[in-house]
Amino acid sequence: MQLCDAALNWCMVERGAAIVLLGFMGSGKSSIGRALARRTGLPCFDTDDIVAARFALGITEIFAKFGEVKFREAEDEVLRELSPDRPAIVVTGGGIVVRPANVELVRRLGFVVNLLADEGTLFDRVMRRADRPLLQTENPRQTMIEILRVRAPLYRQAADLEIDTAQLAREEAIDAILSASETFRAAAT
Ligand code: S3P
Repeated sequence: MQLCDAALNWCMVERGAAIVLLGFMGSGKSSIGRALARRTGLPCFDTDDIVAARFALGITEIFAKFGEVKFREAEDEVLRELSPDRPAIVVTGGGIVVRPANVELVRRLGFVVNLLADEGTLFDRVMRRADRPLLQTENPRQTMIEILRVRAPLYRQAADLEIDTAQLAREEAIDAILSASETFRAAAT
């Protein structure tokens, strides 16, 4: 577990009541988000699920039919509609940080956690599912490495806490997230 520089800015930006999970595809956001929701009893809002429900299509179909830009616009809209006043677990899509304005939005929602894992673990995990349109290329591993290189610093800059999901069991990751989030909330009041 590692606290980030952004955590030092806790008091400078008005922060909401949510715990927001960021990270690359395969970093464990959805499964940790669901487990956090079960443990805390809070509702879980997954931006991918909400966007998919709005289009009544899977993510791959949205990309194919409407393109990435439309997907990103819908993702932004969902993020803006989430209330910082509502205690919740918010799971974001891996590309949420590509729009700089979204970094402010996620930080406004609450305590921001960057889930990460080494490249090999991420690749094994993302290959288990076929619904990652950005990785439908001739060389998905190379594509993954290139996207990851651009995004890793963006996740890091946005987050208050980093958790390596390749090193911790899911319950340990949850304990670490809840404990850090409580510490920060106590420091902010
Ligand atoms: C994306 C990640 C996906 C989904 C979409 C785009 C990305 O979410 O939002 O395929 O740009 O990294 P997961 O991170 O949940 O796979």
